Amino acid sequence: MAQDWRQMIHLEPRKGWMNDPNGLCFFNGKYHVYFQFSPDSPEGAGRKCWGHFESSDDGKSWEYTGIVFEPDIPEDRTGVFSGCAVVKDGTIHIFYTGNVELPGEYDYVTSGREANQIHVTTSDGRIMGDKKIILRNSDYPDYCSCHVRDPKVRFEDGKWKMVLGARTLDDKGCVLFYEADDPDDWHYVKSLSVDDFGYMWECPDQFDVEGKTFLGISPQGIPHEEYRYQNVYSSGYFRMDGDKLYDFTEYDHGFDFYAPQTFVDKHGDRILIGWMGIGDIPYSNPTTELGWQHCLTVPRRLSLSDDGRIRQCPVINQELFGDLNEAREGNAVLTDLPCDINAAITDDNYKLSIGEAKITYNGNEIVLDLSQGDIGYGRTVRKVLTGKISDIRIIVDRSSIEIFAGNGSYAMSSRFYPSEASVKTVSEGGGFSFRTIRKMEVRGFE
Ligand code: FRU
Repeated sequence: MAQDWRQMIHLEPRKGWMNDPNGLCFFNGKYHVYFQFSPDSPEGAGRKCWGHFESSDDGKSWEYTGIVFEPDIPEDRTGVFSGCAVVKDGTIHIFYTGNVELPGEYDYVTSGREANQIHVTTSDGRIMGDKKIILRNSDYPDYCSCHVRDPKVRFEDGKWKMVLGARTLDDKGCVLFYEADDPDDWHYVKSLSVDDFGYMWECPDQFDVEGKTFLGISPQGIPHEEYRYQNVYSSGYFRMDGDKLYDFTEYDHGFDFYAPQTFVDKHGDRILIGWMGIGDIPYSNPTTELGWQHCLTVPRRLSLSDDGRIRQCPVINQELFGDLNEAREGNAVLTDLPCDINAAITDDNYKLSIGEAKITYNGNEIVLDLSQGDIGYGRTVRKVLTGKISDIRIIVDRSSIEIFAGNGSYAMSSRFYPSEASVKTVSEGGGFSFRTIRKMEVRGFE
């Protein structure tokens, strides 16, 4: 059985474990994508570092430049955790959390853990300056537990503004807001939360799309429902009106999506990249036995729908696309992966099989079923309520599926593990069109 699960159009490590995207930015003509990286183990054990990719030609070719941060000062000795980048006056300013777990008998929630926020500058994205500690546990409100992390900073109206994810001592997720005139000297402004909405909010991100303000968070501890919060941890955004947080909406309804981060690209568009993975999942990824685990999603351009929801449109360099082909309903075609499939829905009962992965739309919901055969590694069914839609686009790589429907209003991202790099694709209730996508070049892996 040929198994080629190396991703062709998604960033992933050659070996080791990848989690959150970090420090996303466009700087001096290059895109920088840093990521949470455990180089020593595909299970995520050992050193928690930042790895670094950069691209000078809009995602057609990338270079992996290696590890840019490792735990090497007392304040980040058990992990260089997630953070962000701000480009200002010819410099990238990086802010991240130095995690410290003290040896001893602690619960690591109310004691035994330091959360140090750290500022570093770089003038090329690769060579990092000194690590400066800007906030420590004593700088957080006294109702916070030791879980305070994932700074996301922006420079706005002449001020540096930071959001931090936190867990309170009574197990409530919240976001802390800090401000600064000098990026090494921060003061606390306020905290925001919502009742009964999880015990910890990770990876906050305050951002604007088309003039509207959103607060993205990755909350933990939200009870599962049939159509919402189906995964172990969730990820989505509130609309923000002053201090009011309302209408939480999940970014994605697939099995593998968490801890996304946004940034502004060279065109001024807001782009989101997520981790195509989640911690503590009850399913698995067979690449672990081969030495690596997890990847990032394709970048997604954000826009607003008429009802104020965020829409996500995949951004893939046009030069990577092959010719457009059409397949009629019922005609099975062999599609080479990666490929971009567009459903031509003519009936309210549309079905598409991509190998053993089944996608169905019944006029009201999309169901992704990975329970057939041995492609899911424990993944079964995920659903999203869409109401009436007329488009479903699917980006399939060698071991992932990303579904975008209703003009990007609904997304479902998932890993799956077909046994071949070409799969039989067939539809009912309408045909589909498809284009193969060429591999994006990634240099720099030895
Ligand atoms: C989210 C997260 C972050 C943390 C990082 C550690 O996946 O738990 O909150 O900074 O991963 O790798």
